[in-house]
Amino acid sequence: MKYIHIPKILKIDFDKPVPFKQQVAIMFTVLIISCLLFTVVYFQQLFSGNIATVTEPEVLQSESPKEKEKSVADTSHGNPTDRNDEKSSPNENSKNTDLKNANVELLGSTTIVSKSYDDIYNGELILVNKDYSCHSDGENVESIFEKKSDSYVVTDKYVSMDTSIVENVNSMLDDFYDIYGESDIMIACGYRSYDTQVGLYNNEIGNVGTEMAEQWVAPPGYSEHQTGYVFDLDLDVVGNDGINYEGDGKYAWINENCSDYGFIIRYPAGKEEITGYSEEPWHFRYVGVPHSQYISDNGITLEEYLDIIHEHKSDSPALIEDDDGGRWCVYFVEADETGDTHIPVPEELEYSISGDNYSGFIVTVKLG
Ligand code: DAL
Ligand code: ZN
Repeated sequence: MKYIHIPKILKIDFDKPVPFKQQVAIMFTVLIISCLLFTVVYFQQLFSGNIATVTEPEVLQSESPKEKEKSVADTSHGNPTDRNDEKSSPNENSKNTDLKNANVELLGSTTIVSKSYDDIYNGELILVNKDYSCHSDGENVESIFEKKSDSYVVTDKYVSMDTSIVENVNSMLDDFYDIYGESDIMIACGYRSYDTQVGLYNNEIGNVGTEMAEQWVAPPGYSEHQTGYVFDLDLDVVGNDGINYEGDGKYAWINENCSDYGFIIRYPAGKEEITGYSEEPWHFRYVGVPHSQYISDNGITLEEYLDIIHEHKSDSPALIEDDDGGRWCVYFVEADETGDTHIPVPEELEYSISGDNYSGFIVTVKLG
């Protein structure tokens, strides 16, 4: 006789048919053991963070971005044409800002768009700071002299910007003029070439030394002005010497409302350790709606915002509501370094794709 040495009821005589009662007992035991095993594995996964906790039936609360170690902005810059090998988050001082997950079904049917690795260097959401250099240099910029509205002035006819943002600048400054009747706003600087930045940087270092200069002036190749998505405001006043624009008094309207036109104050007070620069209330950066509004409404920087968006892949897009009640899905697709990146995009909805300048692509979808 062959016996398996387990409790009496479960003893099996393989030479005889197993009685019904014994069959039931065996099945019950197997069921209990399975349940126990499942429970152990489930709690192990839950506590290790691999299982998300669902809090809402359709719109789910996302996990907060991981707390990261604080770092001081790096001041060694390397070659600006080198790809930054660091593929982790550029900002290790993130603010925990909740952003809802959208139900992926809101995107409807999807198709695939292919992008090459170098496409990560283009688009209105590229991060250019002391760690990530600008890879373009004026390819898509134009003088705004002939295109600007009459509501403001420019320092000279060479003031240029990315062609895609001129309309937004005009519209914002026209609205400011309509409210306050002032046309003393001047755009002092838009796109700045690598070579121009070399002159500014060296000049500032000559004046105040490297440490002080780098609080205000980006090293050549690392200035956002090189992207074409940036402009500095000044006031067209007699004896204008240096930048007079502080974004206060009536001009506070511009700083408070610029996000409705797609712009952010890129170097706000209190965020110096993240941005690497002292406060610059005159420096406006285009990122587009709804990103500008989310960044502004939550008092975060572009570095912090990109950290948050990187947590939302195409199977868990972020849901952002703009200030007019419009809804958007935003998600991140990591770039494939060995070939084209295949990006899922909706077939029926309007969308745009921007690189982030260091690791992949951000897809922004306007929901119907
Ligand atoms: N003033 C900013 C940081 C620049 O030089 O680009
Ligand atoms: Zn600037």
